[in-house]
Amino acid sequence: MTAASQPSPRAAAEAIPAASPCRPVAPRAPLDLPVVDILSAEKIFPDGTRGLAPIDLSIRRGEFVSLIGPSGCGKSTLLKLVANLFEPSDGRIVWWQGNFSRVGEAGRRLAFVFQDPTLMPWARVRTNVRLPLDLAGTDRAEADRRVDAALVQVGLDRKGRHFPGQLSGGMRMRVSIARAMVTEPDLLLMDEPFGALDEFTRNKLDDDLIRLSWEKKLTTVFVTHSLYEAVFLSTRIVVMAANPGRIFGQLELDEPLPRGDDFRNSDRFAALCRELSAMLHAASLESRGDR
Ligand SMILES: Nc1ncnc2c1ncn2[C@@H]1O[C@H](COP(=O)(O)OP(=O)(O)O)[C@@H](O)[C@H]1O
Ligand SMILES: [Mg+2]
Repeated sequence: MTAASQPSPRAAAEAIPAASPCRPVAPRAPLDLPVVDILSAEKIFPDGTRGLAPIDLSIRRGEFVSLIGPSGCGKSTLLKLVANLFEPSDGRIVWWQGNFSRVGEAGRRLAFVFQDPTLMPWARVRTNVRLPLDLAGTDRAEADRRVDAALVQVGLDRKGRHFPGQLSGGMRMRVSIARAMVTEPDLLLMDEPFGALDEFTRNKLDDDLIRLSWEKKLTTVFVTHSLYEAVFLSTRIVVMAANPGRIFGQLELDEPLPRGDDFRNSDRFAALCRELSAMLHAASLESRGDR
C-alpha cells in the first residue's frame, strides 16, 4: 500500500462501524466500585524516556481489562504502576479508593504474573506455590490448605510433588498462576503470561483463566499481543499507542461470562476481532513517532 492510499489515523478509527457489538465505554453504576484509579499518572524514566504520557483510567471491581497495543506503547509500564512496582513521575494511583488500613496492605491484595514463570527448579511444585505464604509467615496448616486449593484451581492437583523440569511450558505457567492465587488476591495483574505458549495451550489456559477469574470474582488487568485472546477474555479492552505511550481507545464487551468455544467460534467473536484489528491498525499508525 502506498503512503497516499493509506487512510489517516482518524479516518481509520472512524471507519469502525457505528453499529458495532462493542460499545464505547460509558460510566457504570456507582455499585461497580473502582479497584484502581489511575489519575493523570505519567512515567518518565531516569534516562529521559517518556514511557507513558499522563494516563487516566479507572478499573472497576470484577472487570477483566486487557491492555493491547504496539511494542513500546507502555503496557508493561502501566501494569507496573498499577502493581506499585514503579512510582509515577507525576499524577497518582489510588487502590481500593484509598480504603486499606495499613501501608502495604494494597500490595498484599494484588498478585503479578509475568511471561516467565520464574519457578525455583530445585523445589517441588507445592513448595514453589507455597513460597509467598512462607515469605509472609503463614501458618503451615493454613498454607497447605491454600496450596491444595490453588493447585485444584489450576488443574495441577496431581502434580504437587513434581519438579518444574518435569512439567510442560503450559503446566509451568499454571504453577505460576497457582502461586499468584495462593495469596487469594482481589486484583490479578498479568503481563503477556501466555505469550510464549503454542496456540492450543494458550487457548486452554485462556479457558481456565476466564473461569477462574469469574468464579473468584477477580479484577484482572492483562497485557497481551493477541487480539483474539483480548476479545475472548476481556470485559474491556484498552488500546494503547506509542510515542509517547498513551490510551488510544477503549472497547467494552458485554458478552456473558464465563465464555468458551461457543463464543470463540461465533460470528460475533469474528466481528469483534475485526473491529479490534481496525482499532489496532489506527493505533499503530499513530505510534510512528512523527507526531
Ligand atoms: N527502565 C526503563 N528505562 C528507560 N526506558 C524504559 C524503561 N522501561 C521501559 N522503557 C521505555 O518505555 C517505553 C514503554 O515501554 P514498555 O512499558 O516496556 O512497553 P510495552 O510493554 O508496551 O512494550 C518504551 O519506549 C521503552 O523503551
Ligand atoms: Mg511489555
